[in-house]
Amino acid sequence: MSLQLNRSVFGDPANAGNVLSQIEAEELLNTWVLNDRLKLHMKQVAHLMKSWAKEKEQLDDTGQWRWEMAGLLHDADWDQWPDQHCKKIIEELEARKVDPEIIHAIASHGPAHFGVAPQTQMDKMLYAFDELSGFLHAYSLMRPNGYEGMDVKGIKKRLKDKAFAAGVSRDDLNDAANRSGISLEDLIEFAVDHQRRFNN
Ligand SMILES: [Fe+2]
Repeated sequence: MSLQLNRSVFGDPANAGNVLSQIEAEELLNTWVLNDRLKLHMKQVAHLMKSWAKEKEQLDDTGQWRWEMAGLLHDADWDQWPDQHCKKIIEELEARKVDPEIIHAIASHGPAHFGVAPQTQMDKMLYAFDELSGFLHAYSLMRPNGYEGMDVKGIKKRLKDKAFAAGVSRDDLNDAANRSGISLEDLIEFAVDHQRRFNN
């Protein structure tokens, strides 16, 4: 099954600046995603995206929501339509006249799967946090104290253990870090710190 999108342009430039409201985005999430684990993953990625936009990109509330929204909806079609993953949510957001940059971020969150290269920093961070967030969550579940005391050294050791959380591609994670221009250590540090706070 190929998920390649075979397109490189997403959305309409005339819709630049258009976003869904938080209520609309959450309604879409809750209607399309029935699996609570997936929903949590999407909320965790959204939180990392919002936090990064605020702290590292110094974006205002509007800018932060654009990043958060991309995180919140990036896997929206995975639960019920895995064979149309990415395609379906892209078409939905296009129909709702959402800003093309947000749609592009979602379209490029898995370059190996969808065949779309991340371009903007929002694209690149969504790709990186998607991989990393899932890995940290898996790691937290096997630790007696969850995120407490989790550190970069321990996480890097776990990453080397190929049998652990095998569903998280180490190649994708390294590729995402390279493309983001942020070191893997710094990405891990930021993600673990914020995901810990989100879960507590
Ligand atoms: Fe994801």
